[in-house]
Amino acid sequence: MEAQRTIADIRDKVQSLKAKGRTVAFVPTMGALHEGHLSLFRLAQEHADEVVASIYVNPEQFAPDEDFEEYPRELEYDLEKCEQEGVAAVFAPTDEIMYPGEQFLSIEVNELNEYMDGGSRPGFFEGILLVVNKLFNIIEPHFAVFGQKDIQQFRILQQMVAEFNHDMKLIMGPIKRANDGLALSSRNKYLDHEQRKLAPGLFRSLQYVGKQISDGAKNVQLLLDHQKNELEAKGFKIDYLNLFSFEKMKPVTNPEVDNKYILAGAVYLGETRLIDNIIIEK
Ligand code: PAJ
Repeated sequence: MEAQRTIADIRDKVQSLKAKGRTVAFVPTMGALHEGHLSLFRLAQEHADEVVASIYVNPEQFAPDEDFEEYPRELEYDLEKCEQEGVAAVFAPTDEIMYPGEQFLSIEVNELNEYMDGGSRPGFFEGILLVVNKLFNIIEPHFAVFGQKDIQQFRILQQMVAEFNHDMKLIMGPIKRANDGLALSSRNKYLDHEQRKLAPGLFRSLQYVGKQISDGAKNVQLLLDHQKNELEAKGFKIDYLNLFSFEKMKPVTNPEVDNKYILAGAVYLGETRLIDNIIIEK
């Protein structure tokens, strides 16, 4: 299948679907599609008549020392997968299309980006909101689907949709994992053989602590410290490993009943940053 390269072309395509009375679910991606992305296409199909995807490695969400240049780009291969999955249209713009001139405006995020990935990657969520806001205005879907894998991204986008009155419903898809538990990610390609064998350790730590919390453990900090030490001993470098509230994305030490929490971690194996999380509902 062919990608739509201009805003006018993708708008035409989406308009023609809507003119036939079809509902549209949008799945934004940065490409290098794996089963995690494909699971979102399938979830999107359960909610809407047609799925529209975007493939765009957004420079605005990469810091100067991050992997923007190395990020895998496999458009032809990605388009084949989209076609196999029955995706109706793919928007794959260039930087000139998405950022044609000097930018005078930005979207600021408060509080919700203070911890987790927002805390470690300044400007990351501003870059994401900038591009997703544009994409939402270009596609104007009925639904947009995002993965739990990037749970802080989902939470902040949920806020953007509410506060900026985007007329759509957001849907969160569960994390797709390899057989050994490692959350699928385009960045897993960077891992060497040894690192790949270690990588599921992050999920195992989250699962262990998550079970203890669900079983009523009160000493969450102690449990987390112990897991951090174990992971470090195995060769992980810890960025964060903590329990956060879903509402505010802020650390909590004492989970209470009737609340939704995220047990989330970000670690490095060599240069590669891995993130994962589990949701805990009390
Ligand atoms: P990308 O990392 O390509 O991810 C696209 C979507 O796939 C996101 O919603 C992400 O949460 C989801 N995803 C990634 N790995 C997954 C997995 N293992 N299981 C289920 N879903 C998974 O997230 C981005 O791109 C960008 O920030 C974007 C929203 C496109 C804005 O540039």
